[in-house]
Amino acid sequence: MFKKSLVAVGLAAALALTGCGGGTGDNAGSGGSGDITLGFAQVGAESGWRTANTKSVQDSAKEAGIDLKFSDAQQKQENQIKAIRSYIQQKVDVIAFSPVVESGWDTVLKEAKDAEIPVILTDRAIDSPDKTLYKTFLGSDFVLEGEKAAEWLIKDQEAATGDVNIVELQGTTGAAPANDRMSGFADVIKAEPKFKMIASQTGDFTRSGGKQVMEAFLKSNPTIDVVYAHNDDMALGAIEAIEAAGKVPGKDITIISVDATKDGMTAAADGKINFIVECNPLLGDQLMDLTKKVVAGETVPERVVTEETTFDSEQAKAALPEREY
Ligand code: AHR
Repeated sequence: MFKKSLVAVGLAAALALTGCGGGTGDNAGSGGSGDITLGFAQVGAESGWRTANTKSVQDSAKEAGIDLKFSDAQQKQENQIKAIRSYIQQKVDVIAFSPVVESGWDTVLKEAKDAEIPVILTDRAIDSPDKTLYKTFLGSDFVLEGEKAAEWLIKDQEAATGDVNIVELQGTTGAAPANDRMSGFADVIKAEPKFKMIASQTGDFTRSGGKQVMEAFLKSNPTIDVVYAHNDDMALGAIEAIEAAGKVPGKDITIISVDATKDGMTAAADGKINFIVECNPLLGDQLMDLTKKVVAGETVPERVVTEETTFDSEQAKAALPEREY
């Protein structure tokens, strides 16, 4: 059932509720003029990955003729909850969101369920045991990404006989990609006692966060062999800190990251990042397909996993000219 006629009435109330009057794109409609309205609550604009993901969702909505209501939560869960509530008030047809953190969604998602508005999780998961709160989850396998990073490191350091000191730049505390990339990596690396995780701290998935944390790591740890960054932006920040400390990233310190954005791939092609695990942000087309199916009452798979690859320096060099994001 479509509820477009009620959207205009709900919008004014929603803007009052969220305190967003425009300017940054919050609650801005940016889609086509179709019969389906999708409310999308984005995490923020913390990274190159996120920017590409937002563009993909907006472009795909336009192409699919879906009216998109878009909000940017600036990496705050309370903002996302407000946005979801405003979409419920606006009686959109479907709500999609990429949860800032894994926990604390049951109440607002029950409200969506009571209002009979289907929810699609995109990019990040929630930890609720109640699977009836959402129709499907579209996104990467973050545990696998962490495992791939560790498997590469084990091979790369095969010849090392002494301790290999690793520092980890974690993503946003409590976020699924931070939790899963941390556990996937740790589970594989623990098989080899020479790998020592000497420091691990959040850089919040941002370049400035990665730089700051890396500066502190370099001050308090005389021997750092490896940086494992949960995304490219933090790795790029860490590279700045390493260079400022007079060391050569990719040579004096091995750097592994996740995402494979254009900036990350450029650093890899330059030999400053040694290995990147891809995390694909181009989820827009699949999200619009799932939205249409959910509205049509079709059954959708409860999990849609994104296919991804990995890049060492040579592979990054070869792939860079064609890189979309
Ligand atoms: O949820 C996906 C992660 O969020 C990306 O790896 C990171 O760059 C982003 O901020």
